[in-house]
Amino acid sequence: MKEQKTKWIEIDRQKMDIEILKEAGEKIRQGELIAFPTETVYGLGADALNPDSTEKIYQAKGRPSDNPLIIHIAEYKEIQRLGMEISPKVEVLAKKFWPGPLTMILKKHQMVPYTTTGGLDTVAIRIPDDKIARMLIRYANTPIAAPSANTSGRPSPTKAEHVYEDMQGKISMLLDGGEVGIGLESTIIDMTLDPPEILRPGAITKEMLEREIGKVVYDEALMGKENIIAKAPGMKYRHYAPNAKLIVIEGESQKVVEKIQSLALQQSHKKIGIIATQENAKKYRGKHLEIRVIAAKKDTKSIAHNLFAVLRDFDTLHVDMIYSESFAGDGLRLAIMNRLMKASGQKKIEV
Ligand code: TXA
Ligand code: MG
Repeated sequence: MKEQKTKWIEIDRQKMDIEILKEAGEKIRQGELIAFPTETVYGLGADALNPDSTEKIYQAKGRPSDNPLIIHIAEYKEIQRLGMEISPKVEVLAKKFWPGPLTMILKKHQMVPYTTTGGLDTVAIRIPDDKIARMLIRYANTPIAAPSANTSGRPSPTKAEHVYEDMQGKISMLLDGGEVGIGLESTIIDMTLDPPEILRPGAITKEMLEREIGKVVYDEALMGKENIIAKAPGMKYRHYAPNAKLIVIEGESQKVVEKIQSLALQQSHKKIGIIATQENAKKYRGKHLEIRVIAAKKDTKSIAHNLFAVLRDFDTLHVDMIYSESFAGDGLRLAIMNRLMKASGQKKIEV
């Protein structure tokens, strides 16, 4: 891939610089890559209808070409422009949750190239709840295909610095809208199946979806069953992973602390990273420990928001091993644990 200069541009959300967004939109139309904020994580955008542009996304990320991209649109009616059929359930969810952190899988129309869908006959689509993202799409005047703006396999970027770390020299522009709100990628629901299936848990939970459209199920692969391949191609790869090995410790809080402490003591010659809740952080002892407070135990939103940044921190610190307290629970916690367990390669110790 040819090196290029990456323009890092801070956008003031109070006083949006329209000229910059127009320029960015124009670049998308010319086939270039632009990173932009969404409410979930930063996206790496290209013209979804131009195979040459989307091809560049796979190159910049080092992403396997069978892993499809999400198409981002600014207005609901663009779905029809893309030739897709809308079922009553799709309509209900769109009205309720868009713009927002929900991606729906629908049947693909021939307008959408196979490079965007990784060869599949279905297509993932969402309207992001971020003004910068939607203005970029409007000025580009084309739907924007965008995966998370990280190198394939690394934790998703929740601030512009993360994007720059991974994408510097590979993309034309980075629109810096500050830290994202949610910090975990959108919920993905496959609306081509009956009942609809959740392929990736996120901030829009199963309960929230069921309240609108009735029965919804999880992809069996998400429930930890062995030998079942995830339906979202991206979910089968080791993902969100820091360089060091990560193990999750689950159980009663004091026992978790004792277990992590004793594991750390056995490895005093190594640099050990610990992902701790605020309540427990001060309980760990050792000069070889790098303790990162993720948030208070009950503050689920902050845990979600900080998870990827904490995982990236440990790469910068070059730790040899990471232990994380578990954050198991319902709702958003399912999404947090889904990412954490993926980052660990499903390694958990129960105490
Ligand atoms: O919050 C998000 O969804 C972020 C922001 C940027 O919008 N995007 C994102 O994209 O997380 P990405 O590419 O990192 O993850 C997309 C996931 C992958 O696991 C992919 O396999 C799945 O969506 N996917 C895309 N199209 C699909 C399809 N037609 N069928 C099944 N899974 C699909
Ligand atoms: Mg991703």
